Amino acid sequence: MQFETILIGSEGPVATITMNRPEALNALSAQVFQDLADGLRELATDRTIRVVVIRGAGDRAFVAGADIKEMADRDETTPEERNWTGMRVYDQIRHLPQPVIASVHGYALGGGMLLAMACDIRIAADTATFGYPEIKLGIFPGTGGTVLIDRLIGPGTARAICLTGEHFPAERAYQLGIVTHLVPAAELGAETARLAELMAGYSPVAVRELKNALNASMEMDFEAARAAEVAAHARCFVSNDRIEGMRAFVEKRSANFTGD
Ligand code: COA
Repeated sequence: MQFETILIGSEGPVATITMNRPEALNALSAQVFQDLADGLRELATDRTIRVVVIRGAGDRAFVAGADIKEMADRDETTPEERNWTGMRVYDQIRHLPQPVIASVHGYALGGGMLLAMACDIRIAADTATFGYPEIKLGIFPGTGGTVLIDRLIGPGTARAICLTGEHFPAERAYQLGIVTHLVPAAELGAETARLAELMAGYSPVAVRELKNALNASMEMDFEAARAAEVAAHARCFVSNDRIEGMRAFVEKRSANFTGD
C-alpha cells in the first residue's frame, strides 16, 4: 500500500501505520485523513492482519495535532464537513475488526491525542507529552474530541484539559486513563511488539465481537448496549474459534485460532 503521508508495512500478522510527516511533527492534513481512511479500509478486510499499530515517524512526535498551517491558509467554507471527515476516520479505528495500538512517543497534541484515544490500547513512552492546545488557537477540540475524552476519562478532568489547553506529561496521561500502558522510552518498541504479538494470538472473531460490544457501550444507551453485547457474544459463541479455544484449554495446549 502506497500513500503520500503515511507508511503501512506489516510483519507477520501485525501491520504498522507510520504517520510520516516528521517535518511537520506528523500533523494531520486533509491528505493524512484521506490516506488513513483508505489504508484502514484495506486493513479492515485483510484476514492476514490481526493487530494494527499506529506510530509517528521521527523522534519528536506521535502527532502534533491538526495541520495548523493548512487550516490557517484555508478559506474555510465547510467546517462541518472537515469535522465529519476527521471524525469518521477515528470511528474507523474504533470499529476496525482488529485491535489498534497507539505507540506514542514525543508530542501527542490535539488531534494527535485524539488519534491515540481512538485506539484500543495506548502505550506511551514516559517522555511523551499530551494535551489539547486548540483553545489557544481560537477553536476547541473538534472531530469528536470533546465527546471521546469525556467518555474516556470523565467530564471533570476532560473540561480542565480542554479549557486550559495545557500540556501534561505521560505519567499524568497514564493516571487519567488517556494512556493504558506507560514504559521507559527505550522500551516503547519492545512493549508495543509484545502486546501486538499477544493479541495477534487471540481469536479474530472474539476480538472483533468484543470491540463491537465495547463500541455499543460507548455509543448506545444501557439497554440497547446490553442487547448489542448479547448479540455480539452469541456470534462469538457459534464460531469455530470458540470451540478451538475451549478444547485447547481442556487438552492443555495452545489454541490455534483461524478467525472462523
Ligand atoms: N500543524 C502544522 N505544523 C506544525 C504543527 C501543526 N499542528 N505542529 C508543529 N508543526 C511544525 C512547525 O510549524 C514547525 O515547522 P517549521 O519548521 O516549518 O516552522 C515544525 O513542525 C517543528 O515545530 P516547532 O514548533 O518549530 O517545534 P517546537 O519544538 O518549537 O514546538 C510544539 C513543538 C509541538 C510545542 C509546537 O510545534 C506546537 O505547539 N504545535 C502545535 C500543537 C497544536 O496546537 N496542536 C493542535 C492543533 S489544532
